[in-house]
Amino acid sequence: MHYQNIEDLTAGLPQEDTAHGKASSFFGEVSMRAVDVSYTLGDKVIDGLSLHIPAGQKLGIVGRTGAGKSTLVRAITRLTRLSGGVLCIDGQDISTLGLHSLRSQIAVLSQQPHLFGGTVRFNLDPAGGRPDAELWAALQKARCSDLVAQRLGGLDGVISSGGCNLSAGQGQLICLARVLLADCPLILLDEATASLDAELSQLVEAVLTAEARDATVVHVAHRLAAVGSADRIVVMEAGRIAEDGQRAELLGRQTSLFYRLARDERHARGRSRGDRRSVVLCNINSYRSATSPKLIMCSCASVPMFIPRTVAASLGSLMCVASPANDARKVSSIKGPCVGKE
Ligand SMILES: Nc1ncnc2c1ncn2[C@@H]1O[C@H](COP(=O)(O)OP(=O)(O)OP(=O)(O)O)[C@@H](O)[C@H]1O
Ligand SMILES: [Mg+2]
Repeated sequence: MHYQNIEDLTAGLPQEDTAHGKASSFFGEVSMRAVDVSYTLGDKVIDGLSLHIPAGQKLGIVGRTGAGKSTLVRAITRLTRLSGGVLCIDGQDISTLGLHSLRSQIAVLSQQPHLFGGTVRFNLDPAGGRPDAELWAALQKARCSDLVAQRLGGLDGVISSGGCNLSAGQGQLICLARVLLADCPLILLDEATASLDAELSQLVEAVLTAEARDATVVHVAHRLAAVGSADRIVVMEAGRIAEDGQRAELLGRQTSLFYRLARDERHARGRSRGDRRSVVLCNINSYRSATSPKLIMCSCASVPMFIPRTVAASLGSLMCVASPANDARKVSSIKGPCVGKE
């Protein structure tokens, strides 16, 4: 089976709810047995994967880019068909269910906020009929009631198609409010908090844990902190489950893939903190003694007219960014190894 387009993917599967295909309300137990998915013949993106997610569990899925995490999430909503194996929700093979029955019980929050051109009210409650108080309560829980009240002018305020009058993070929060209102037994998050800062991302997780207490939550994330309170973590690699356990247990094993992901993330954070510090550099001597950076980016307004040769030499490399024209003079006066001037 290959990914092509939605029509191809769902061809032959029940599209409408029939007496046969109608799902009873889910509890949210997901089980996959020997699941395969391929984009091209012979190239399995998901390869014989078996996974049981008990109803109500909060599962974090992590793994490197291309490991197959999003594909797995899409398989649960039947956006892709399996080329092998069985995927059941509450024991019902989802390929036998009508799409409406299936998808109306699954809330999906992905990296790209899905917002319609229309009012806030319509975006939160497309079917209509929910009282304003419930909409405001959901917005409050999703930490975006101020945004709606002050910036958008209330529930009748307008959201542009695709949410382009909002930042990506603000769009995510509105979508989170919609998820909370929908009250589905199964919630799938795919990099849903990637556009939020670390604090908000953790807050979203906490909100979901508290508000969707009974729902099964499958949360795919790159940032390990985003799945910090998951009951269980699955690490995917090349379409398979490489590790499965509790966070503390995986972190406790220095040979685990999860441990290596956490270490890489820590290093990357350290690097970007270093970069940020270098941008606000004011005093090159104290900066050097504190961190001994290899590369410094700084506004030339803050660079002393003359950097002692010994300091510059010990830095190894130095990049200066000068924007105002009169700063160019300062750049050219810097003594030492400059690797770039703009
Ligand atoms: N629509 C598509 N058509 C063809 N190949 C695809 C398609 N979507 C994903 N793939 C391929 O399937 C593999 C798994 O992709 P997937 O998006 O599931 O990975 P992922 O683990 O979610 O990665 P990331 O962390 O970058 O989001 C990758 O090799 C990718 O190139
Ligand atoms: Mg992905």
